[in-house]
Amino acid sequence: MKKIVILTGAGISAESGLGTFRDEGGLWAQHAIEDVATPEGFARDAQLVHDFYNARRANAAQAQPNAAHHALARLEAEHPGEVFIITQNVDALHERAGSRNVLHMHGQLDRALCGACGHRWDAPAVMRPEDACPACRVRATRPDVVWFGEIPYGMERIDPALSEADLFAAIGTSGQVFPAAAYGQHARRMGAHTVELNLEDSAASRDFDDCLRGKATEIVPLWVEGLLSRA
Ligand code: OAD
Repeated sequence: MKKIVILTGAGISAESGLGTFRDEGGLWAQHAIEDVATPEGFARDAQLVHDFYNARRANAAQAQPNAAHHALARLEAEHPGEVFIITQNVDALHERAGSRNVLHMHGQLDRALCGACGHRWDAPAVMRPEDACPACRVRATRPDVVWFGEIPYGMERIDPALSEADLFAAIGTSGQVFPAAAYGQHARRMGAHTVELNLEDSAASRDFDDCLRGKATEIVPLWVEGLLSRA
């Protein structure tokens, strides 16, 4: 098992107190996707969108990495081959647990992006529609998160990693948002062994050779322990 590629979703941060999107009472039950997670919604009401991400940024800053994040950091430190985490999460809990090789395919809450010139910088705690870009001075500042209808980040790194993976694992994701939802199928077709770790069956479960069911804080450390003891 040389190259391990791990896709994470909101379920890995749930036990850190960050709500998921599609579980009962999740974020998409409280907010309309088209209002807060599309370029059109931002053009209609930038203040509403900033309010949504400002609140999420504050929650994420208070949250602590949990045992699942820590186990993945340990895996990266102790596994003799490469461990690459592709996360759909916009929180920084993987990095705060010590993971280094992390790609945020849906962006990061703690980064700001200029919609005019593409410049990126560390986001302040509270972003406002009147904030100007520090590089071009245009007032088109937005959270550096990928919205529906936009292309996820890092595809040029993700595609080859899936093709070269010996082991692909998906943790805490419902398998409903593409392209990430197809990564298990892609990696398996290219020869990887595939494992899904989730509370329940997902829309993509059929693409996995093994399915481990339970809370991320319980099943991820056990899974990592097993991998390291076999290495
Ligand atoms: P979802 O909310 O769609 O799915 C979360 C998954 O985690 C579900 O399958 C739950 O069963 C599982 N889960 C919940 N608690 C868990 C726990 N404690 N341990 C293990 N599993 C648990 O979140 P994502 O799949 O991450 O995109 O959603 C993908 C994308 O949809 C997000 O990145 C976001 C959203 O719209 C954008 O905003 C672009």
